[in-house]
Amino acid sequence: MNPHPHPVDLVITGAQVVSHERIVSACVAIHGEHIVAVGDLAAMPESTHVFDATGLHLLPGAIDSHVHFRDPGYPHKETWQTGSGAAAKGGVTTVFDMPNTNPPTGTLDALAMKLKAAEHSYVDFGIHGLLGDDTVDHLEDLLNAGVSSFKAFVGNTFGNLPAPSDGALLEGFEKLAPLGIRTVVHAENSSIMARRQAQLVAAGRTDALAHLAARPAVCEIEAISRVSILAQWTGARVHIAHHSAADSLYLIEEAKARGVDITVETCPQYLLLNTERMMELGGVLRVNPPVRESRHNEPLWQALKSGVIDMIATDHAPHSIEEKTRANIWECDCGFPGVETQMPIMLTEVSRGRASLTDYVLWSSVNPAKAWGLYGVKGVIASGAHADIAFVDLNKTGLIEQSLFQTRSKISPWQGRAVHGAPLHTMVRGRFVMQHSKLIEDSVGWGRNIKGVQAMPTPHPRNTEHTSRSIVKTP
Ligand code: DOR
Ligand code: ZN
Repeated sequence: MNPHPHPVDLVITGAQVVSHERIVSACVAIHGEHIVAVGDLAAMPESTHVFDATGLHLLPGAIDSHVHFRDPGYPHKETWQTGSGAAAKGGVTTVFDMPNTNPPTGTLDALAMKLKAAEHSYVDFGIHGLLGDDTVDHLEDLLNAGVSSFKAFVGNTFGNLPAPSDGALLEGFEKLAPLGIRTVVHAENSSIMARRQAQLVAAGRTDALAHLAARPAVCEIEAISRVSILAQWTGARVHIAHHSAADSLYLIEEAKARGVDITVETCPQYLLLNTERMMELGGVLRVNPPVRESRHNEPLWQALKSGVIDMIATDHAPHSIEEKTRANIWECDCGFPGVETQMPIMLTEVSRGRASLTDYVLWSSVNPAKAWGLYGVKGVIASGAHADIAFVDLNKTGLIEQSLFQTRSKISPWQGRAVHGAPLHTMVRGRFVMQHSKLIEDSVGWGRNIKGVQAMPTPHPRNTEHTSRSIVKTP
């Protein structure tokens, strides 16, 4: 029996379909925004169009939990149009944008500005609202107005947003735990870093490694320890951004073993780059947290493989060339673009046998979909899911060339790196946003807020008798 009496829009033929479990030869039928069938050619419904993808692998589009599209506030660094265009070119079909824009995404007005800017997105998006002392009283309003999750800048970084006090963090977690909402944490200890940096500056250090000296791994260790204790006490879900240090992995392992709902991302720069490259590149590789000594690289890979680290994100943090190349390290803005280069860089590691293609799908797509309550709708190529697909050519080779980036930030520590494997076409909810490595400019504005399809199952909050709400409630 044919379940589709009318011709469907499209059947993709000839490709290998990849999940986190297996790679199979299969066709994919798409109608409107959804996948309606995956299987043998003979089982495909009639279709208006056929797309021959012979030789390509179809991956669920990457879901990047961590991008900074800078809009509103810093359009010379990035806009939603340029940033999401870079995502489309990188095989990334959903992004989560960070709140350190100007104004920061901690008020309804600022959120409205961001949602307006995001109307120019090529790809689907979630919005991380700001969790801080000034915003903790209206988290529910922000959720109702469209944020998917929150971000707490426990460590200071670009934008210089004050770290939340421990009191506000606890209160925020108390409020978010019963709602099942996850909070991203920039886990570095601000007070240690401020003191160290002041001492280094006073001593006249302006070299690249002074940046690492200001942010030792103990900053990450301490912050993860504190946050996981508050998350355990409240039952709140948390997500550790850009995990950088081997020394803090044991805390994640322990927190997971204690039942804390803690997910963790790392980024290609922490897996593949280190102080050797920092000495060569200086400010171009200045990022928070810093890339560390080479001894950290391999344990982060092992943690991904064992599931201690759940996923790959990019911390796509665009700045202008001028802002990245100042002589004094303290004057170089932190971060660099990544949403466009993540997939080719990671596929290259797959081609080297560092990980399997199914591992990569787990880290780039399945686990982020699960963390943000999207799995089934996103993160998988299966009937009923959004047709979010990266069409990948595993044989494509080339060199990363920053001058050709879609992002406005045409300066990258990956410049000149040889890559093996790249997305050729990207589809978001049934529509191509990139074809033959070229952005489909008509698809600008096609991206939607994932809020409408997000389902965060409600957990059982703990220690509710101690929440601020029960403290202040009149009997
Ligand atoms: O290096 C960084 N840059 N790390 C962050 O956490 C933020 C980012 C930015 O917004 O530029
Ligand atoms: Zn970031």
